[in-house]
Amino acid sequence: DWTSDVFIDATIDSLKESIGKDRVVMGLSGGVDSSVAATLIHRAIGDQLTCVFVDNGLLRKNEYEEVLESYKGMGLNVIGVDSKQKFYDALAGISDPEGKRKAIGKTFIEVFDEEAHKIKDVKWLGQGTIYPDVIESVSVNGPSATIKSHHNVGGLPDFMKLKVVEPLNTLFKDGVREVGKALGISDAIIGRHPFPGPGLGIRILGDVTPEKVQTLQEVDYIFIQGLKDAGLYDEVWQAGSMLLPVQSVGVMGDERTYERVVALRAVSSVDGMTADWVHLPYDFLGKVSNDIINKVKGVNRVVYDISSKPPATIEWE
Ligand code: XMP
Repeated sequence: DWTSDVFIDATIDSLKESIGKDRVVMGLSGGVDSSVAATLIHRAIGDQLTCVFVDNGLLRKNEYEEVLESYKGMGLNVIGVDSKQKFYDALAGISDPEGKRKAIGKTFIEVFDEEAHKIKDVKWLGQGTIYPDVIESVSVNGPSATIKSHHNVGGLPDFMKLKVVEPLNTLFKDGVREVGKALGISDAIIGRHPFPGPGLGIRILGDVTPEKVQTLQEVDYIFIQGLKDAGLYDEVWQAGSMLLPVQSVGVMGDERTYERVVALRAVSSVDGMTADWVHLPYDFLGKVSNDIINKVKGVNRVVYDISSKPPATIEWE
């Protein structure tokens, strides 16, 4: 019967054997899957693995710095690439959700390809693909999903010609989390909610600007930190906030305001294919709403999404 220790030993042996003295490059997303996959590969081949973590400017507040630090703390050989402006340029003026996904995916591929070219004699591409990604087209995590859904645009970038190594492709999410725990990866990474590869780019409805990203990061931070402080974060499968392309009237002192509306969403789910909205306590929602409106400039109204999937999807775009 399956135990994470047996899986880890067997996987490390087979990685050593198949990779030998070759070099491997791998994109990290900050999510569970890519972190666990990278740690396994690193255990097998050490610094023959180079990881690339791209700041696409669409991550959560402080996420890039914090995740990069924790990867370094784990001993991974990781290159951080600040490409925020490249992504903002690529997104400028695009409102259509699929158009945004394409622009983000294409930019990611360009950035990643450039980094992969800097690694001499790289032979393998590491991926955090898990079993459900193999059988379904919808995947919840970062670079691997981004690469897969966009590899058919234009010519194949060079890194896509590399041999692929996917040590988690027989596991479900639970198994990945167990393996990650046994490998000593921090709870902060293991317990992290799924986050879409295109990030806040698909949670800002309509076109994306750096100012909107900053506003949504502040809103999202208050919501997520609030869930953690209230002990609710682990009760929820995924949570996030959307910046709506709507303004509403409010009052501040004697003045009327005309500012943005944000929506909060928290769902329970097993695999993201179906989901229920979470009945978060009213007191909690009230406090978060107040905090957001008091602290985030330009937002004067907060709504809570009470739709389940199907028919509503988890993301709004
Ligand atoms: P939906 O919105 O389809 O989302 O109910 C199901 C799960 O997939 C995530 N998601 C994505 N992940 N690239 C990703 O890597 C995407 O384009 C994307 N769209 C949705 C979503 O966050 C949820 O976990």
